[in-house]
Amino acid sequence: MPANALQTYRRLLGYLRPHRGMFMVGVLGMTIFAATDAGWAAFVKFFLDGTFVDKDPRMVWLVPFALVGLFVLRGLGDFLQTYCPGFVGRQIVKTLRGEIFDRYLHLPVAFFDRQSAGVLLSRLTYNTEQVATATTDSITVFIRDTLTIIGLISYLLYLNPKLTLISLVVGPLIAVIIRRINTLFRRYSKRIQASMGDVTRVAKEAIEAPRVVRVFNAQQFQAGLFDQVIEHNRRSHMKLMFTKGLSNPVVQVIAASGLAVVLYLATVEAIKGQMSVGEFTSFIAALMLITGPLRRLVNVAGPLQQGIAAAQSIFDVLDTPPEPAGGTVPIGRARGEVEYRDVRFTYPGVMEPVLHGIGFSVRAGETVAIVGRSGSGKSTIVNLLPRFYDVTGGSVILDGRDVRDYPIDRLRAQMSLVSQDVVLFNDTIRSNIAFGHPASNEEIEAAAQSARVLEFTEQMPQGLDTVVGDRGALLSGGQRQRIAIARALLRNTPVLILDEATSALDTELERQIQEQLDALMQNRTTLVIAHRLSTVEKADRILVMDGGRVVETGSHAELLAKNGQYAVLYRMQFNE
Ligand SMILES: Nc1ncnc2c1ncn2[C@@H]1O[C@H](COP(=O)(O)OP(=O)(O)OP(=O)(O)O)[C@@H](O)[C@H]1O
Ligand SMILES: [Mg+2]
Repeated sequence: MPANALQTYRRLLGYLRPHRGMFMVGVLGMTIFAATDAGWAAFVKFFLDGTFVDKDPRMVWLVPFALVGLFVLRGLGDFLQTYCPGFVGRQIVKTLRGEIFDRYLHLPVAFFDRQSAGVLLSRLTYNTEQVATATTDSITVFIRDTLTIIGLISYLLYLNPKLTLISLVVGPLIAVIIRRINTLFRRYSKRIQASMGDVTRVAKEAIEAPRVVRVFNAQQFQAGLFDQVIEHNRRSHMKLMFTKGLSNPVVQVIAASGLAVVLYLATVEAIKGQMSVGEFTSFIAALMLITGPLRRLVNVAGPLQQGIAAAQSIFDVLDTPPEPAGGTVPIGRARGEVEYRDVRFTYPGVMEPVLHGIGFSVRAGETVAIVGRSGSGKSTIVNLLPRFYDVTGGSVILDGRDVRDYPIDRLRAQMSLVSQDVVLFNDTIRSNIAFGHPASNEEIEAAAQSARVLEFTEQMPQGLDTVVGDRGALLSGGQRQRIAIARALLRNTPVLILDEATSALDTELERQIQEQLDALMQNRTTLVIAHRLSTVEKADRILVMDGGRVVETGSHAELLAKNGQYAVLYRMQFNE
């Protein structure tokens, strides 16, 4: 095994440790099961020599009893070797799934910019199952059949050491072949897992965007894309099958050749009268019994290597560093003074900086609006406040301290965000508004009332308990946005970030909600991004962005008087 496979294996064993008691009972079962194989070979000698050579009359009843006894024992071993490792395997899957999901929850936002959701999902579902198979079925086979072979060889050695040693020379040859097969298996397994990730990814994208696919008539394009990934998946599987199919016969033929030599020598000894019929038959029986476990051992290499490859990809996720925990400066409820001091920012993995030295400050309770062309960096600015990303230069300051000084969860507790793309969870409207925030029904309803959510839920038979469908698909864009606003209202944080929060609402509704938002903004610091300039007129200050720079600042009136970019933008919208 190469070093990193060995490391992965060791690490997997770490997951086994808490369940080692259960696992050892399983190994006991495997040992019993294995011992009955050698017991079976011994039984043949006992029966043949007792009956035909010694002509012992007790054999008549000893044999049936011994037979039943042997199988009761074997049955017990069989149960233990199935149940106990199964138990351990499911525990490991649960632990791994929990750890992966927990890591997904805590990885930095930038991680998800680069990774496809489908691939991440497939790690959680498909790869963990493969680890389960490796740690249960495969380990069982591995331990039990190794023990069986050891048991049988010991018995063979006891019967006839010379013949046994001769028959063992094929061992190293088989070992070399198995090693080679293992490497191939691991390689193909990795490919299969990667391609499973692709299958999930492409399917997920198509399933999630049925409208886009249809209106652009992209079915054929998507089908072609999907065909590529499933073809790649099929090919990788076939390579694995080929190796799997070939490995067995090769090993068996080598084993049979060895057996032939031994058979020849044993026959010579038997003819010379050096072996009894019982010994001879028992020896051959034991030798034949070795081929079964040997075949399973060769076959188990596949799933075992698949499991290791799967575990490796899982550990890759687990080893990705989570978001920084932040500093230790305690913060109860912030006053809400926000300052950006010469903030520079470049997205990870991108050469061009997006923000070039942004500086502005917001006193507690003030509203600052950010306007500017699409792509000018407005969302990027506000994303730095909850530390979705960290500045690459300068600092973002809350209440006089760098945001990085506070514990990250406490920092985020100071702000609510209503963003451009509202994400709802497949749950009731009520829980989507509360969203993990402990709130009474009255509070939820009050928030729903203010955000004009009740207006449309009153028409629904289940009201606030209506389930919104996957990502809120059963609601209109504006309805989703109203729920997001209600969510922000309920949280009642000192800082509020509105990134195009009302873009999906019609003018009339926007005006109504604006009143609510105005009330809401009253005693809290608000950063508001809006394309529709009518919504930002009342802001204390307006920043006009262009190409990652603040090009103008001032109140609505000041900016109009200045007759610069803002005035141009404003007149353009006004004339529409
Ligand atoms: N996750 C990301 N990784 C790399 N680049 C990004 C990422 N998000 C945004 N960008 C780039 O940063 C620039 C600013 O994007 P940003 O989302 O801040 O613009 P915006 O002003 O909010 O635009 P809009 O009005 O369209 O929402 C864009 O050029 C965009 O391509
Ligand atoms: Mg934006």
